[in-house]
Amino acid sequence: MMDYELRQTGDGSYTLYSTSFDECYHSVKDGALREALYKHVLPAFDLVQKGKVRILDICFGLGINTLATLYWLERLPQIERVEIFSPEMDRELLNLLPTFPYPQELAPYRPLIEELVTTGSYGDGRVSIELFKGDAREYVRGLEAIDIVYQDPFSPKRNPILWTLEFFRDLHRIMDDSGILTTYSVATPVRLGLYEAGFSIYEAPKKIGVRPGTIASKGPLPLNQIDMEAKRRRSSAKVLRDDEVVDPTYNLPRSNDQT
Ligand SMILES: C[S@@+](CC[C@H](N)C(=O)[O-])C[C@H]1O[C@@H](n2cnc3c(N)ncnc32)[C@H](O)[C@@H]1O
Repeated sequence: MMDYELRQTGDGSYTLYSTSFDECYHSVKDGALREALYKHVLPAFDLVQKGKVRILDICFGLGINTLATLYWLERLPQIERVEIFSPEMDRELLNLLPTFPYPQELAPYRPLIEELVTTGSYGDGRVSIELFKGDAREYVRGLEAIDIVYQDPFSPKRNPILWTLEFFRDLHRIMDDSGILTTYSVATPVRLGLYEAGFSIYEAPKKIGVRPGTIASKGPLPLNQIDMEAKRRRSSAKVLRDDEVVDPTYNLPRSNDQT
């Protein structure tokens, strides 16, 4: 049985539903393309204004965040170079991508997707992309000087190993001092986890047609900052930790395995 079902989303673009994670790859309500552009790409490029930008896209999935970045870059001639790093452990999914019904805005990048899926990399004068076919937790530890993280795994309920305090600490360590992280999640345990890992937490700017998410940053931003100390005092929310989560997709050594 195939692990994926095609679903049309609120903006007309398509996503997949994963039967193993019991979740869609994008918000069906907000729309796959709109979610990529308005929750990740636009807020990130509004805030990070550098000539050379390094992006970590967690995880590649259908590649919509990565392709939406390239689409948006065509409107940002001041950016000289973009390097994108993206892990994806599902090889069966990657093999489907050359025939996935991308929206017309992203369809011109189909040859790039074919090259990326076949060789694991793509490069031209301005853009380089590395698609790592394996585990995100292992992959991120080898990166450095990341300016933008698109934190876009399945939900903490379905894929908790990519939302733990330890993972957020790894992200914090590999980011540039002016780096920012975008995520669709507004959950208090997620925001608290990012805060405990050393990030400042901001409300994402409202964009028409999508529910705003969260922006986390290492430095100050011109956005509404959330008072996480007050949140921590008022909330009983529990931050996820590696040795407490059970993730069907992952086999971390447990503290009680060390005997
Ligand atoms: C919500 S989808 C990402 C959607 C993607 N950002 C896009 O724009 O199409 C989450 C992806 O994370 C992948 N994944 C889950 N756990 C992973 C892990 N430990 N390492 C690498 N990939 C993982 C899944 O296979 C899935 O493709």
